[in-house]
Amino acid sequence: MSRSEIERGMAKAENYERRALTLINKGDYPAALGELIKAIEKYKTLAARFQRSVLYDRWLEKADELLVLAKKIKGKAKTTPEMVKEGAPISIKDCDEVGERVDPETNKLDFSKLAGMDKIKKILRRTIEWSLKEKEKMEEHGLEPTKGILLVGPPGCGKTYLVKCAAGEFKIRLLIASPASTFNKYVGETPKAVRKVFQCGEKMTPSIIFVDEIDKLLPDPSRSSDSSGVTGQALSTFQQEMDGAQSGTGFIVMMATNDPELLHPALSRTGRVSYRLYIPPPDKPTRAAVFRINLEAPKLILEPEVQNFDLLADLTAPQDGWYYASSDIEEMCRRAKEKRFEIIIESGNEEIPLTLDMLKEAINSLKPSISPKQIHRYEKWADEFSG
Ligand SMILES: Nc1ncnc2c1ncn2[C@@H]1O[C@H](COP(=O)(O)OP(=O)(O)O)[C@@H](O)[C@H]1O
Ligand SMILES: [Mg+2]
Repeated sequence: MSRSEIERGMAKAENYERRALTLINKGDYPAALGELIKAIEKYKTLAARFQRSVLYDRWLEKADELLVLAKKIKGKAKTTPEMVKEGAPISIKDCDEVGERVDPETNKLDFSKLAGMDKIKKILRRTIEWSLKEKEKMEEHGLEPTKGILLVGPPGCGKTYLVKCAAGEFKIRLLIASPASTFNKYVGETPKAVRKVFQCGEKMTPSIIFVDEIDKLLPDPSRSSDSSGVTGQALSTFQQEMDGAQSGTGFIVMMATNDPELLHPALSRTGRVSYRLYIPPPDKPTRAAVFRINLEAPKLILEPEVQNFDLLADLTAPQDGWYYASSDIEEMCRRAKEKRFEIIIESGNEEIPLTLDMLKEAINSLKPSISPKQIHRYEKWADEFSG
């Protein structure tokens, strides 16, 4: 390996990089892009030529970072030097600041843990797997990779959970941005947070970025009480980023809301969103499966009657138009298991089964959480927009 050749190569790459940054600061993006591309090529050439160098990883990392930067400034007419600076390279670790990161290695969920939703599973399998893994083939056959997927439905019926299960099923990375995990930390700076979320999608590719409770993050500015204009800026940043997230970026944007009426029409109607899916309250087979999934544990013994999950599903059928959410059923199971555990701790006998009576008591202690009025609203939305 030639030391001087490496040194010369690095000096050139760093030179291109410096020139690019100067040009960015002057606002001359086309020229900056040219320099960036030269720098990227230089770093890649170094890596290819000197594969055993201790600097090998660093060169590839550098090339990656600059590529992100190049994509940022490419095709953005209204880019300002500030925006580009904010768009400067970030590391995967920085993504923890803007959301909850779930890696395939730590994700314990997959579709086997998700009750019902067969149609949705099928759509996601097609759209996510194809878009991330068969992108070129799709294009060759005249199909566009999926851009955004919007999930709409009552609280507690599995929107957030579904996304986690999908990421686990397809073994791809996931970044969940939500009011709690993200936007708390960026009060008054939502546009910045939005940009970071998208940068992370690119950094973590192939990945899903999931903006949970998007109505709270990006409410329709005309309905919002915010007078600072940040809401409007955040929305337009989001739209720009969605448009910029070209098919080649290797991440999919998913969004969820309990309140579709609060969304700006740009999010619910235009081509920016490839699919709008209604996630309804659980039907009978789904309720049975939610019971089954929540009543499984190595030492959890069930009375034979409790193993009749269809019966449990019947006991939680809608009443006068009021529906139980999946999260209600999860809570019933928790209460019944807790009751049993209390008896085990008192008696020291772990062989005691969970009885139908324990479950009935738990079921009766919870009222269905979804009202007929809510259902009506969602169904109206689904009629108009979903698909
Ligand atoms: N289809 C399902 N199968 C199994 N468990 C579910 C399902 N849907 C929801 N749950 C349970 O209910 C909880 C609440 O669901 P969540 O995804 O948070 O609802 P949402 O995001 O729609 O408000 C989840 O953590 C999960 O344990
Ligand atoms: Mg949720």
